[in-house]
Amino acid sequence: MDAEHMGDKLLNVLFTEEQIQHRLAELAQEVWEDYKDKDVLLVGVLKGAVLVMADFMRALPGSAPIDFLAVSSYGSGTKSSGVVRILKDLDTDITGRHVLIVEDIIDSGLTLSWIKTNLESRGPASVEICTLLRKPEAAKVEIDVKYVGYDIPPAFVVGYGLDYDEHYRNLRVIGTLAPHVYS
Ligand code: PRP
Repeated sequence: MDAEHMGDKLLNVLFTEEQIQHRLAELAQEVWEDYKDKDVLLVGVLKGAVLVMADFMRALPGSAPIDFLAVSSYGSGTKSSGVVRILKDLDTDITGRHVLIVEDIIDSGLTLSWIKTNLESRGPASVEICTLLRKPEAAKVEIDVKYVGYDIPPAFVVGYGLDYDEHYRNLRVIGTLAPHVYS
């Protein structure tokens, strides 16, 4: 789906397909340089990270295995509660492995903070984070993110894996959702 198919539901386009691909290629080069002597396992967090994972892994100039985690917030249903439950765990034993978590967005940071701590408890050689987007002004916890595509303002963004009520993940660009859609 293209930006024009959103009609008045999209306020603006933040990043085009080309910009996203260009930045992911830069990140992939950086990551590959850092892990050149190591076997890195890419861990995607479902569902939002699927598109980032698909393009990021193909931008790497060498082979890297992948795995996926699915998580959900407990209780309140708000994704920023910070209490997380694993819906689908990794298939891989990460003991002694170098893990790179691949994410679409870090908002409050609570989800990733929990996931990072959880994975670190399994005895990996290292755990780092690569995210396409980050909202620094929305941060509720300090979290060390080694690779960031773009820092963005705290607006509601959709597309390229990011949803509103499960919709618009298949939008090719990343854009700001018009407030009338969710208010
Ligand atoms: C998004 C995103 C992160 C999380 C970030 O996932 O993929 O996992 O929210 O939010 P936080 O920094 O405030 O914790 P979401 O819960 O929307 O699920 P989804 O990936 O299935 O869209």
